[in-house]
Amino acid sequence: MTTATRIDWTREHCRLLRAIRDEFARTRPFEGKTIGTGIHIEAKTVALLTTLRAGGAQVVATGNLNSTQPAAVGALWAEGVTVIGEPTKDQDEHREYQRQVLAARPDLILDNGGDLFAQYLDDPYPGLLGGTEETTSGRMRLAPLRDRLNLPVLVINDSPIKQFAENERAVGQSTLESFLRMTNRATTGERVTVFGYGACGRGVADNFRGAHAKVTVVEADPVTRLRAHLDGFETPSRDKAIAGANLIITVTGARDVLTAADLPLLRDGVILANAGHFPFEIEAAGLLEAAGAVQEYEDDLATLELADGRRIHLLARGHMFNLAGPRALGNSIESMDLGFALQTRCLAAVATGRVDAASCVVPVPADIDAAVANAYLDDRY
Ligand SMILES: NC(=O)c1ccc[n+]([C@@H]2O[C@H](COP(=O)([O-])OP(=O)(O)OC[C@H]3O[C@@H](n4cnc5c(N)ncnc54)[C@H](O)[C@@H]3O)[C@@H](O)[C@H]2O)c1
Repeated sequence: MTTATRIDWTREHCRLLRAIRDEFARTRPFEGKTIGTGIHIEAKTVALLTTLRAGGAQVVATGNLNSTQPAAVGALWAEGVTVIGEPTKDQDEHREYQRQVLAARPDLILDNGGDLFAQYLDDPYPGLLGGTEETTSGRMRLAPLRDRLNLPVLVINDSPIKQFAENERAVGQSTLESFLRMTNRATTGERVTVFGYGACGRGVADNFRGAHAKVTVVEADPVTRLRAHLDGFETPSRDKAIAGANLIITVTGARDVLTAADLPLLRDGVILANAGHFPFEIEAAGLLEAAGAVQEYEDDLATLELADGRRIHLLARGHMFNLAGPRALGNSIESMDLGFALQTRCLAAVATGRVDAASCVVPVPADIDAAVANAYLDDRY
């Protein structure tokens, strides 16, 4: 018998990336190029970045806030990837790690949240060919910067595959999985309020309903709120939805969705959690400041005691909780294999000059979507 790690397990099941790695080892689309990456460093990322390495790239990587997993860092170093930075929740430290990635003057950028491209614009250097952006929040940030970027930037998030495989299906599952694993608390019969009914929010609401919670949706856009209503969710006023909840999950991409000003509304014992990309949806600092005492538990759990005796529980201090802590699994291997297959093919399209600056902050080209979908389906029947 031999033993293997979770990273080995994950790589084994990233079926598409395994095939692309073999292909890239022959075609070498990144020969002589450096790719700078700013994306969660966890087991699936090892499969992604080593595929880029197989294609001939030098890879200089840093993580996102609060999601870097030490075992994945070790595995990346062992495969010749330069990894910058420690797991951190500190914005300034995080920015410094990103600055160091850009100091390597990468030819291509693989971004998640738009941080690397935004920092590049503060201090541009010649030779950047373009790159990719992984998520909704990054697209929202980079779209207004199109004119200044003037480079091909393909947005993986806006592929229909990423939308339905990851955002809609996998985020909901992993959010439920992380809630159960982190808190070991019941969902059955509990009142759960989900802020945001975009692709991710729909999956979160659906999964908690499937786990026998009574789910309420708060959605800023009236048309989307109507959709939530017709999907069978309660859509009361924001204040009512907050006051009724035992668990509140934010997944909007917007800032200050839940703040200290909402404290008077919160029930005793409510659990607050954020699944949106940036840790600014729940104003954690304001809540912590307003608390008389804070009890920190292991596994990124905290209880805030208010002057009137109410207790409010906060997961991962408002960071994306489905990737928080050393035991987090994140989204399913299959969903990330699909998204990362799009990543590798899009980066190759930019590296080989197949797309130009007219493709600045645009969705994945349709033929790449089709190739990845066919590759996934090929083995199934
Ligand atoms: N946790 C994960 O693994 C993961 C994976 C993918 C994306 N994300 C992140 O999740 C967030 C949401 O992504 P999405 O693809 O669902 O975005 P989306 O744009 O499709 O949906 C967001 C929804 O939130 C609504 N909204 C905005 N502000 C609101 C507010 N204050 N109150 C109530 N509703 C509000 C919008 O009207 C919209 O319908 C983003 O930050 C994205 O980057 C997380």
